[in-house]
Amino acid sequence: MQKIRAAIVGCGSISDIYMTNITSGKFQILELVGCSDLVVERMNASAEKFGIAPMTLEQICADPSIDMVINLTTPAAHYPIIRQCLLAGKHVFSEKMIAVDLWQGEELVRIANEKGLHLGVAPDTFLGASVQTAKYIVDSGLIGTPLSCRASISRDYAVYGEFLTHLYKKGAGIGFDMGGYYLTALAAILGPCKAISAFTRINEPTRVNTRIGAPGFGQEYALEVPNVIAAAMQYDSGVLGTLHMNSDSLLDETYGLEIYGTDGIVYMGNPNEFGGPVYLQRVGSEKVLFPLTHGFAENSRGLGAAEMAWSIVAGRDHRASKEMAFHVFEMMHGIMLSAERGEVYRLASTFETPRALPAGYIGDGGWTRKEESALI
Ligand SMILES: NC(=O)c1ccc[n+]([C@@H]2O[C@H](COP(=O)([O-])OP(=O)(O)OC[C@H]3O[C@@H](n4cnc5c(N)ncnc54)[C@H](O)[C@@H]3O)[C@@H](O)[C@H]2O)c1
Repeated sequence: MQKIRAAIVGCGSISDIYMTNITSGKFQILELVGCSDLVVERMNASAEKFGIAPMTLEQICADPSIDMVINLTTPAAHYPIIRQCLLAGKHVFSEKMIAVDLWQGEELVRIANEKGLHLGVAPDTFLGASVQTAKYIVDSGLIGTPLSCRASISRDYAVYGEFLTHLYKKGAGIGFDMGGYYLTALAAILGPCKAISAFTRINEPTRVNTRIGAPGFGQEYALEVPNVIAAAMQYDSGVLGTLHMNSDSLLDETYGLEIYGTDGIVYMGNPNEFGGPVYLQRVGSEKVLFPLTHGFAENSRGLGAAEMAWSIVAGRDHRASKEMAFHVFEMMHGIMLSAERGEVYRLASTFETPRALPAGYIGDGGWTRKEESALI
């Protein structure tokens, strides 16, 4: 049976779990054949560790046996790499966000449509056990009619950002780097958003890198993006929600992600993970731990690419769609624009809410091919 042959571009922090999951046979639809990175030693080390070929991006694009490129580079490189791969006729699954500027995302969606290629974008954690269980709860009517939602994350970026410096640059910051997890989880359950109103601030915009061993240790640097965000959302369905983000507070990450309905409340796990606990509280009862109804509770990075590969073979749309990714990307731009202009931002894009994954199969990976195809 056909396998989708893939190459990874970007052999940095997140690449190891992608490569481990794919080469271990967790996603049997994918065959990883090569990898590429501007840093040659990094590329060679990954190639050797996973028994794949080190390749330049040009070699990947020119190789007719490679069907799909998985783009794990930093955000500023997303647009040029996705564009080059699409123009070379490759399907692309990219890490978040789709691009840096709105026009870039629009162009990538248009090229993929024109060329009839699949373009999928992370986060794929929304396909994991936690969000899919919450979606099952909402779709089953267990919380009645959803009326409101709340998303909140606090995380100290000084620690991460002084090592991974792209985190403080345009295209990242807590909004673009972490907001996608929360907004995608909500989008996958509640559908498109209609309007956003927000305030943002950059607390302490000029800083000195105090991390011994970090690339810019001892040097002054500027925060290019907000580190405190408060936004209000109005969804097409009428649901109203809030998003609170703070990357200048305590080191310990705190999160909240909830949907409130007429008959109950669903509390999701951390959307940056696959299988956090899901709680349900119904009218007249206590808040209870809800058994996960879906698989992929363990770290399943690569699941979005695998589900897209199954879609290519089956000739259907994939769930981590470019339209949903672009919509979430536009939401985050909308937050920034609303704050800058002091006005409500009305979204221009929309998407089809992705179908739930089939429920009822719990495991920690190692699927047979038959099980995997039935599941996704
Ligand atoms: N680190 C994480 O925990 C994490 C988690 C989820 C998602 N992500 C996402 O994954 C992506 C990568 O993040 P990361 O933390 O692995 O970053 P990283 O800096 O550790 O790795 C990125 C790699 O891409 C390479 N690269 C950059 N531009 C390139 C180009 N033009 N051609 C080839 N290689 C290029 C860099 O040399 C580097 O090795 C980002 O979009 C990020 O949002 C990261």
